[in-house]
Amino acid sequence: MRTMLLGGPGSGKGTQGQRLARHYGVPHIASGDLLRAEVRAGTDLGRQVAGCLDAGRLVPDELISDLMLPAVLSAAEAGGYILDGFPRSVAQAVSADAALAESGAGLQSVLFLAVAEQELVRRLLERAESAGRSDDTAEVIADRLRVFEAETRPLIEHYRAQRLLIEMAADQPADRVTEAILAALEARDGK
Ligand code: AP5
Repeated sequence: MRTMLLGGPGSGKGTQGQRLARHYGVPHIASGDLLRAEVRAGTDLGRQVAGCLDAGRLVPDELISDLMLPAVLSAAEAGGYILDGFPRSVAQAVSADAALAESGAGLQSVLFLAVAEQELVRRLLERAESAGRSDDTAEVIADRLRVFEAETRPLIEHYRAQRLLIEMAADQPADRVTEAILAALEARDGK
């Protein structure tokens, strides 16, 4: 299983990624989680990216590729991966596609979690009350949504053109989304 979750902030990439990883017995590799871990650990990388995370801006492409590609390649060798949050721009996708294809580790599908913007904002503001993520403020959420529209939404067409895209209606309860994803992946594998 080599798949990727694509979607706006709060669309459920992390929630579904953890469930799919358990189901398929492969790692959930989430760029945001790895970056936040670097910030918490106070590493050089963490210090370089903290400002971008707080502001909801993308961190530079070289930094994210250096962090993600080795983890993705080694997971692919061990049986697969569920990618979450990377690639996040066409430039990242073009270089990741090439690096992964070279090792026979390319994506087999891309799951786009479609959720209306109003619901994304509602979920993130609700999470703000409990989780305390520094980027879950109304102002930064608005910036993350703008970055998604400008930088990440074009990936839908990028992966549709490669016949990898599976679009999921993800503004329903999380269990239903999981069931729909598993059904869609099974239907695709059965083809
Ligand atoms: P990242 O951590 O990836 O943040 P994000 O894309 O904004 O996504 P979230 O983690 O907020 O949401 P999610 O879609 O995972 O949803 P979740 O399951 O958590 O990235 C953070 C930052 O890192 C970026 O802004 C950037 O600075 C940097 N970065 C990361 N990758 C990068 C890259 N490739 N290049 C450059 N920079 C990068 O759910 C959200 C909430 O909704 C939760 O409370 C959850 O319980 C709830 N929820 C989930 N599903 C449902 C449902 N079906 N119904 C109701 N509630 C739900």
